Amino acid sequence: MLIAFGMFAVAFVTFLLIAVIYFYPGSAKVSTIPGLDPSDTREGNLPEIIAAGSLHEFLVKLHKDHGPIASFWYGPKFTVSVASPDVLSDLKGVFDRPAELFKVYESVVSPESIQYANGIEGRKRRKLTDPAWGHEQLNHFSATFNELGEEVVKKLTSLPQDDHVALCQYALALSVKGLSQTCFGRYFQDDRKCYELKRNYEICWNEMEARIGGELDQEGSENQKKVDEALTNLKKMLQEVMKERKASPPKPQEKVFIDFLMEKSDVYTESMILADSLTYMVGGIHPTGYLLAWTLYFIATHKDVEEKLYQEIMEVVGKSKAIAAEDVSKLRYMKQVLNESLRLSALAPWGAKVQELDIELGGHIIPKGTSIITALGVVLQDETLWPLPNQFDPERFSPENVKARHQFAFQPFGLPSRACPGSNFAFLELSIFLAILVRNFKWRLVDGQVVESVHHLVTAPQEEIWAQVEKRS
Ligand code: HEM
Repeated sequence: MLIAFGMFAVAFVTFLLIAVIYFYPGSAKVSTIPGLDPSDTREGNLPEIIAAGSLHEFLVKLHKDHGPIASFWYGPKFTVSVASPDVLSDLKGVFDRPAELFKVYESVVSPESIQYANGIEGRKRRKLTDPAWGHEQLNHFSATFNELGEEVVKKLTSLPQDDHVALCQYALALSVKGLSQTCFGRYFQDDRKCYELKRNYEICWNEMEARIGGELDQEGSENQKKVDEALTNLKKMLQEVMKERKASPPKPQEKVFIDFLMEKSDVYTESMILADSLTYMVGGIHPTGYLLAWTLYFIATHKDVEEKLYQEIMEVVGKSKAIAAEDVSKLRYMKQVLNESLRLSALAPWGAKVQELDIELGGHIIPKGTSIITALGVVLQDETLWPLPNQFDPERFSPENVKARHQFAFQPFGLPSRACPGSNFAFLELSIFLAILVRNFKWRLVDGQVVESVHHLVTAPQEEIWAQVEKRS
């Protein structure tokens, strides 16, 4: 009897030990992938992420220490990050995205957003809206981008000589106007409406940035009321847009993004239209605004690049012609400059995927449901792929250099199965703005600035960048 009890006790303790090892976060049982154990059972490695300054900076160190496929704990969840072109290429067919890594957007875009739609529903919604950024639509947008670019030229020309120009402020204002007028139509041609949109949108954006930094407002706090009010104002403006477009439907060639949603009333309820309209604002305004600011900064600090770009613009479109979409496709060096700005700024440093089944990646089994981070920004600055990665050099994107490199070394818009819907829009808009700004002015950085990056939702300059412009004769 005593022996039987002893055997039972040993078996029970062994079972307990196995259970603890199996279920405790960090257990080697979860996967064979090298990486970090959680520093806290509930928070996982969040303390290390916060100490690193951002998820991107944490991932840079994680991959330096553990190689191109590495694991860590995002709170209580085992998470894998991949930072090699080969492994990224293995994920190219995966569409779904884990919601928990994008929680910070939810307070603004709502759970109904495309951001959280996976499987058949997600694919269906992308199929319905992607044509809003098709070739034909983009052709129509170029007139708006030309007008907005010329407006800025007028403003800059009227400044006193040697005045300082706030690059981020100008770039974000241009991006708000460009996106709102082309996604939502004529309603935002009124400057006051655009200003209202920018003011309310920035309150919401700042709230999401604060949340990613770990700050959470108390329910009913003054700040929370301000954010709720801003969100309500944005939704009211979008509802007015919908009402106007319903009352006087656009001609087929004038159709914009919101029309593509409104005409599918069997799929999109009003709250889904609001959710996706806000999602495309959030997805589009800051990335394009900051990419414009970063590119002007790189141009201002690389005179050889500025001159080469100026020569190309003069050859393709000349001093004053409006720039059409077909001209943009001939501005090859412009594309190299924009690609190198995307690479060096690591503008959108990571994305994420999830699978309903176990998958094999880089020789390891990843359990189903594991969040897989695509560390796009780590790859963009990997010195084995990009020698002297901190130098700005558009020649990296010459046709020969592109051909010689792994295709998945440069995926700034995410992997092909669910790439950013706004990439062609962003290239067209920014090529037109830059062509107009570079053919009219020489750009120079105001002396004495140290420009550093901050990797929040999008990689931004830590402080405003100040430039000076000289009108070209
Ligand atoms: C230079 C500018 C931009 C960059 C670098 C960029 C980057 C990205 C990346 C990396 C993703 C995928 C994230 C993942 O894999 O999880 C993404 C998704 C997305 N982007 Fe962009 N983006 C840019 C401009 C835009 C613009 C102009 C728009 C709107 C017109 C936009 C709207 C979106 C939306 C709605 C998604 C989510 C799509 C979905 O859930 O299927 N983006 N973007």
